[in-house]
Amino acid sequence: MRLFILEDFDKVSYYIADYIKKRILQFKPTSSRPFVLGLPCGSSPIGVYRYLIEFYRTGQLSFQHVVTFNMDEYVGLPKEHPESYHTFMWIHLFRHIDIPVENVNILNGNATNLDEECQRYEDKIRSVGGIELFMGGIGPDGHIGFNEPGSSLHSRTRPKTLTYETILANARFFDGDMVKVPKLALTVGIATFMSAREVCLIITGQHKAVALAKCIEECVNHAWAVSCIQLHPSALVVCDEDATQELHVKTVNYFNSIQQIQQKVIGPENIDLKGSVINFHPNWLNRIRY
Ligand code: GLP
Repeated sequence: MRLFILEDFDKVSYYIADYIKKRILQFKPTSSRPFVLGLPCGSSPIGVYRYLIEFYRTGQLSFQHVVTFNMDEYVGLPKEHPESYHTFMWIHLFRHIDIPVENVNILNGNATNLDEECQRYEDKIRSVGGIELFMGGIGPDGHIGFNEPGSSLHSRTRPKTLTYETILANARFFDGDMVKVPKLALTVGIATFMSAREVCLIITGQHKAVALAKCIEECVNHAWAVSCIQLHPSALVVCDEDATQELHVKTVNYFNSIQQIQQKVIGPENIDLKGSVINFHPNWLNRIRY
């Protein structure tokens, strides 16, 4: 797992948007081989979406051959409702970029048969060759999508009952009124998320600090769904300094020191996008000073 600790929300947002841009450009997607990107809602990705829009507007990035799958959607909220995840995604990203409408996939929380809708979603992901990069946000209780504490680590896309804590956290989008928050949602499963070839998490703010510590320093545990990423071979976590409040100093120093060694000893030109060393030089050892 790679953990990058950056100063604040804006730096985290830029880092992840720039990373997504570089991954798409490196992939060189075409209509027959699109780049498949998993996306979250919530306040965490808003800065990332703002930078992705900027990259599109300045001609640095096109979404013509990008296919997206969103993580989740409320059940029973009309698609046009201001707080539906459909509305959120069009307002914050899709309507500002050149993604073809048929490339956008969001679960239908108003389907007559919710189980069939979830199976259809899984089949669609498989039919496009799986997700290349899944970006996620987390809740303060460590949930991913709507995979609440206790979700099976083998779960696939399915309907999910929301916990009191999530309803409370999301009430801020519904006039602060918990009664107005839907109590059921459709969400990709933990195994759906983990099946992506690469996963990336945005974790910012002190209210996510306990979840980050559980994710990085403790065991894989369904009580903290986010901890599943310890089992992913290609996982990237980008957090701000506020979110590190519950980490051990030793943990922070460890991940920061990896950055120092990559930047000052190995040199960024010898590291590929995903962090692997691409050229080895024996003289690096002479550069290490303790
Ligand atoms: C909601 C969403 C999640 C999101 C989480 C965090 O519950 N279902 O997909 O990651 O909230 O939201 P925020 O980024 O606003 O903290």
